[in-house]
Amino acid sequence: MLACVLNVAPPLHIAYTTSEMAPFAKTGGLADVSAALPKALVRLGHKVTVFLPRYGSIAFPPGEFMGSVHVPVDALPRSAGFYRRKLADGVELVFVEHPPFFDRPSLYGMGNHDYDDNRLRFAFFSRACLEYFRSRGERPDVFHAHDWQTGLIPVYLKAFYWDDPALHGSPTAFTIHNLMYQGNFSPDTAAVLGLPGHLGLDFHGQVSYMKAGVTYAEMLNTVSPTHALEIQRDDMSYGFGDLLRARSADLWGILNGVDYDEWDPQVDPYIVQNYSPRDLSGKGACKQDLLAAYGLPATPDLPLVGITSRLVHAKGFDVVVDAWWNLLQRPIRLVVLGTGEPSVQDGFRALAARAPDRFAARFGYDTALAHKIEAGADMFLMPSRFEPCGLTQMYSLRYGTVPIVRSTGGLVDTVEPYDPVTGNGTGFRFDMPDGTALIWALDQALDLWRDRAAWRRLMRNGMERDFSWDRSARGYEELYRRAMAKV
Ligand code: ADP
Ligand code: GLC
Repeated sequence: MLACVLNVAPPLHIAYTTSEMAPFAKTGGLADVSAALPKALVRLGHKVTVFLPRYGSIAFPPGEFMGSVHVPVDALPRSAGFYRRKLADGVELVFVEHPPFFDRPSLYGMGNHDYDDNRLRFAFFSRACLEYFRSRGERPDVFHAHDWQTGLIPVYLKAFYWDDPALHGSPTAFTIHNLMYQGNFSPDTAAVLGLPGHLGLDFHGQVSYMKAGVTYAEMLNTVSPTHALEIQRDDMSYGFGDLLRARSADLWGILNGVDYDEWDPQVDPYIVQNYSPRDLSGKGACKQDLLAAYGLPATPDLPLVGITSRLVHAKGFDVVVDAWWNLLQRPIRLVVLGTGEPSVQDGFRALAARAPDRFAARFGYDTALAHKIEAGADMFLMPSRFEPCGLTQMYSLRYGTVPIVRSTGGLVDTVEPYDPVTGNGTGFRFDMPDGTALIWALDQALDLWRDRAAWRRLMRNGMERDFSWDRSARGYEELYRRAMAKV
């Protein structure tokens, strides 16, 4: 009533279902988003319950035991245990426990092989989130599902909970973080899950969980405005062009943000000396520390280029490796941190072998080193072919580490090309995914590097950009309300 009189929308209860959340379980940016966006939504006054599988890497018990329920997913009797934990920032986190599916060392598979029961694991997880509410007779205002892993949420709601007293008519907002990973499984999957055959989840002869989310969620978004347009083009949509164009009125682009509690050189506990735009002196010590961590000699006056990434085709590092001859001719140092395709790793290994005092690579997952690279490098390279948003370029901006990026997806929305006439801009961009374009952009950066005052200005331009989550969280708030208005 009061809300009505004051024309203030009431706070929402958001059921946020995700397969990753930092620091508990992470393979990429989804984990960072799932740690930060719920916090920002709580700051706006909403209640957020995040659901996450209790993977083997998460200590047991992960929280207060809330009971267990039967989860009908395939022919076997299965139950989920729920463990609730209240985080310091007010987010409620519910771990979903089912050891046969989740008590494993990795999230999705070992090495480059997915677990062969992923279709059951994530169907189970999605359905368990719904059973949590059904069993408690509680109704969230909206479900927020992410990528194929929770793409079945809106399908299950419509197929099995349409007449449930608690959940009937519950809306879903579905976020596409990466359309390349589609959760496509064998054609018998719908039958195995007991889903009616007429739902149209088939995708090139398989059953697609990504298609499930895209088709049945009330509202859709991806993680940058530019990418929301890209995925409606046939050459960037991995087969989803028709579907996404058909839903273009419901498909928004909401830029990811940065959690500056985690990624800010003024407070970062992983780096050897903190610094700020007003006092950049600590950055030199960070560079020194980073070179030492890679066993490279101290070269304060030569630019140090950093790379932290999944080393997969979409990230474009084969282009860097192919440009090895040109890289050797440039006065740069290069440090690489990543995991991924063996051919890219071999390429970086070969580059390091050619000039071991200038190029170095580490292949593994190392959070502390990822922070040290943001702080210690002078330039940060992202030659992505496909980048829905990208977070590391936004982290680099805050650390005064100038991004050199390919013009695609969220990189277009976050890195503004440097303009030598006005001194405006925050980084360097190139268009073609090839070595010529990359070296062209790198050379522009190296030219400017020699003008120390101009370079410092460029660093500060980036450091002063604000990509905090609050603005984007308001975008999601609006997306949720639209989804609610549609049921
Ligand atoms: P994506 O989600 O496509 O991998 P993002 O830029 O959105 O790309 O997010 C990547 C996240 O994963 C960042 O937090 C980055 O620091 C982190 N990251 C990537 N590779 C590694 C690694 N080898 N070690 C530690 N952190 C990494
Ligand atoms: C995906 C995308 C990346 C994005 C992240 C978080 O992993 O590849 O560009 O930043 O999701 O939304």
